[in-house]
Amino acid sequence: MKKNLLSPVILILFGGLLATGVHAQPALKDAFKDDFLIGTALRDSQLTGENTNEMALIQAQFNAISPDNALKWKPVHPEPGRFNFAPADRYVEFGVKNHMFIVGHTLVWHDQTPSWVFQDDKGNPVDRDTLLARMREHILTVVGRYKGKIGGWDVVNEALNEDGTLRQSPWLKIIGEDYIAKAFEYAHEADPKAQLNYNDFSLENAPKREGAIKLIKKLQAQGVPITGVGLEGHYKMGWPAPAQVEAAIDDFAKLGVKVAITELDVDVLPAATQSQAAEVSMNFALRAELNPYTTGLPDSVQQALAKRYADLFTAFLKQPGVVNRVTFWGVTDADSWLNNWPVRGRTAYPLLFNRDYQPKPAFEAVLKVAQHP
Ligand code: G3I
Repeated sequence: MKKNLLSPVILILFGGLLATGVHAQPALKDAFKDDFLIGTALRDSQLTGENTNEMALIQAQFNAISPDNALKWKPVHPEPGRFNFAPADRYVEFGVKNHMFIVGHTLVWHDQTPSWVFQDDKGNPVDRDTLLARMREHILTVVGRYKGKIGGWDVVNEALNEDGTLRQSPWLKIIGEDYIAKAFEYAHEADPKAQLNYNDFSLENAPKREGAIKLIKKLQAQGVPITGVGLEGHYKMGWPAPAQVEAAIDDFAKLGVKVAITELDVDVLPAATQSQAAEVSMNFALRAELNPYTTGLPDSVQQALAKRYADLFTAFLKQPGVVNRVTFWGVTDADSWLNNWPVRGRTAYPLLFNRDYQPKPAFEAVLKVAQHP
């Protein structure tokens, strides 16, 4: 039977859709406004404002931002005495203009730190005092520039191995274990009001978490100003279990620190490795079986991802007042580092918005958790 498009039922439905602003999706930041900030990572190219769809989505959905790369040592301090603040200035200005909580990521990390930092002019390792002076200059210059604008810093990033021991980075080898405390002290000196976090992945696994707890307790005992811990949240469909996430949040809550989920994504692609570590240096060859969704994500996987995100957000809400931010590591699936890690050239689907800037079923599922945690 041909539908009469002008039938009262159709008109009422159509009118209803328009009246409800079907294009105006509910916002994550509003749904969780009494629980925690909702953030996203931004690439330098997203800050030009040219992509209006993307800008509209960012401004509508998020009240916190993190820089994918703009504030790492290599981009911002590529050579001795030379700083490149242009991308970071654009990033901070965007956050200030949009009244967002601005995260600084990251000050001291084993990756994206130019080799000159650790070497003398002959290429030999510098001594402890020289490296401490370089670290202090970098932190005072970068944190000082954005004092009062950047609300919180990932001061030290990924300093632990999966077994909870300290990563044998040049920072540790040259300065010693107190490089971590010094980094926090310099950041606090540069901006006493900034939140200062230790940020790492896989802290949902007990051995690594024990290492982080030991580290944080030692910093606290020394009177080092540490505000919180960042659980990066680079998750898989089957790891970590929600109970592991809750245990991690509980354990850090017992230390009296805040917990931020700092780089959330959920990888639906087949695993190229059994490792759960978000080690940025990992790289595996592309094979067809590792990249099954080149033309789109099957609805069954969309629904499984939706359930997975709902379970994770339920875990984040279990301890009211502990988790103070949940940041997604990218705006849409097209932005995700997982399109090229640990296998270059895949089509990944780890976030809440698709490549057309539209919400996926996972977006609706997360909103439902906000209404009925
Ligand atoms: O900007 C340069 C460009 O000038 C150059 O031509 C190009 C080719 O060498 O590289 C570009 O820099 C790349 C940068 O992303 C910006 O696109 C780096 O090579 C590349 O390594 C870097 O990857 C980033 C990675 O950290 C390493 O810094 C990813 O985008 C970023 O998502 C990822 O994020 C990390 C967090 O910072 C820490 N936690 C793990 C997370 C995922 O690895």
